[in-house]
Amino acid sequence: MIASSSPFSFILFGASGHLATLKIYPALYVLALKKRFPKEYAIVGYARTEMDDASFRKLVEQSIRASMPEVTEKVLEEFLTHVFYQQGQYDSEADFSTLAKKLTAIEKGWKDTVRVAYLSIPPSVFPQVLHNLNAGQVRTDPVPFRCIVEKPVGNDLKSFEELREQLMTNFREGEVYLLDHYLGKEAVRNVYYLRLANPMLERLFKNTLIRHVEITASEPGGIEGRAGYFEHTGTFRDMFQSHLLMISSLLTMRLREGEGTLIESRKNALEQLYLPPAAHLNDIVLQGQYAAGTVDKKPIVGYRQEKDIAPESRTNTYIALKLQSRTSRWEGVPFYLRSGKRMHKKETRISIEFQMPFNVGEGAKPNRLDIILQGEAGMRFHLQTKLGGSEPKFRPLLLEDPLVCFGDCLPEHGLLVLEAINGKQQWFLTFEEVRTAWRLLEPLQVHLDRPETPLFLYPAGSDGPEEAKMWIQKDGLQWLE
Ligand code: BG6
Repeated sequence: MIASSSPFSFILFGASGHLATLKIYPALYVLALKKRFPKEYAIVGYARTEMDDASFRKLVEQSIRASMPEVTEKVLEEFLTHVFYQQGQYDSEADFSTLAKKLTAIEKGWKDTVRVAYLSIPPSVFPQVLHNLNAGQVRTDPVPFRCIVEKPVGNDLKSFEELREQLMTNFREGEVYLLDHYLGKEAVRNVYYLRLANPMLERLFKNTLIRHVEITASEPGGIEGRAGYFEHTGTFRDMFQSHLLMISSLLTMRLREGEGTLIESRKNALEQLYLPPAAHLNDIVLQGQYAAGTVDKKPIVGYRQEKDIAPESRTNTYIALKLQSRTSRWEGVPFYLRSGKRMHKKETRISIEFQMPFNVGEGAKPNRLDIILQGEAGMRFHLQTKLGGSEPKFRPLLLEDPLVCFGDCLPEHGLLVLEAINGKQQWFLTFEEVRTAWRLLEPLQVHLDRPETPLFLYPAGSDGPEEAKMWIQKDGLQWLE
């Protein structure tokens, strides 16, 4: 059972932001509830907003209550005594010194304390924050230090390299933790472990047997008040640059013994992904944007009518992408990745369709394996069986299991934070992986940004643009439902 191995201070920059309130405070509370924290720890929020410890505790408490079906009052009360706030500017060394003094006072008498800085802030303020963490002595030798940076780590290859340079200038490599929360999801990690523990699957995962692979990540949610971030990010950077490429890597990476090789194999698999040759980039990537529609019977405005979104915005909220892998097992198998906001349901799914060498009779469909990671999670083998009668006619035969997490299941941010405190890096991204991802996607991003590249509208609550259906049909396929 994973627990924090030493006292720690967790300093959250951007403490009143969307990610913090939606995911991080609830995840930290769950860790407290499940007794994963030592006696001595502190959660210190830092932001520009004027607040004191008491009002910040209220904010943290509200965010926990809002996202938990029920709370254990005693645990929550005790947890909140570990929560503190420091108001300050990101560009003020003096404010960081005040933060450092506050930390020192809180940590008085603790032994082997670890400091973790979690940067949930706009990339524009990164340089100042990274500099001031050192200058203001928030990071101070010999106290072990971790700096957590959320994906997509930059906005393109160039800004990634700049950010990397700043991180390397200010910290040692082992102190930087590049976080993709999908790598904290048990279901996503399980893509790797399912393969590892079931050699039978590996026998099936072969280009001679597979027709195509589909990876879908759809969500009914919209931009959830994050216009500032999303307008210049879009679904392509937001979901593909890390989440969907990581799932593809976990599916195609070479299995080798020993956990130490996991990062290396994952990185190699990512490097093997490539854009298939095509007459035009439109054959490889397609973008869409949601228009007004209905989600869960509620009317939803179109993306361009959302608060703080430009009325003529061309930001994509849906992407379909075709990729291939050079690994010998997967070479030649097309991978179709798609993701969209304001879709009709929440689902993250890998579907593998197998080849059907000959037609065995009426009703027979290709075999298929679904690994549904989110939504109605499950693993489902689509086979078929003969109907009664003298003619060979078939009906579907489904072998399925709910594939939900059993055992020590923690929220993804909670698990990753614990691993960061404990110095365990294998489920964090490496700089090489992020660079490889940007390199792969950059030509497509440039293409998507061109004003003449089509942007197809789809009604909120649908399963994406009609054009995406025709796009995949051109390859003789259909999106798998
Ligand atoms: C985040 C994106 O990384 O992932 C969001 O920034 C997206 O836009 C979210 O909604 C989806 O995560 P999950 O865990 O709900 O699948």
